[in-house]
Amino acid sequence: MKVSDAMESAYSDQVTLELWASISYLQISAWFESKDLPGMASWMRIQSGEEIGHALRFMDFLLARGNSLTIGTVESPKPTYGSAKAAFEAALEQERTVTKAIRELYAMASKEKDAESFPLLDWFLTEQVEEEDSVQKIVGQLRLAGQNGSALLMLDRELGARKPVAQ
Ligand SMILES: [Fe+2]
Ligand SMILES: [Fe+2]
Repeated sequence: MKVSDAMESAYSDQVTLELWASISYLQISAWFESKDLPGMASWMRIQSGEEIGHALRFMDFLLARGNSLTIGTVESPKPTYGSAKAAFEAALEQERTVTKAIRELYAMASKEKDAESFPLLDWFLTEQVEEEDSVQKIVGQLRLAGQNGSALLMLDRELGARKPVAQ
């Protein structure tokens, strides 16, 4: 059964938002690469891939419901981060924006009693808690590292160990 026109538009916007998140992570990844922090660059690149997976998940759901998808314009962020911590803070801000949008989708699905949306949105709400948590922890560790170059390099090595998860 199709979702309403309003929900079709909200799901389309969510696909656009996940693509925006993906491009933003890729931009931050390039910034880290230019700052000689390849581990953090790799972490961001893997995250960028996960966001593409999220976009596809929303897209497939919308199409499975018999609706159509309209991808909007994605505005790339300016790669002007003052520090590694600022770059991860930008990532955290971005995740919070995505969380808000998913909560709004949830509110809309509740209002329209679109029960089929709930398992999908539940999965995403849990995912957002995990993503915010992992980025928050990294921001905290970068705060502790401060200007200490060896602590930063150690953290870079640790984050570089992240492996992509099969979607
Ligand atoms: Fe996402
Ligand atoms: Fe995310």
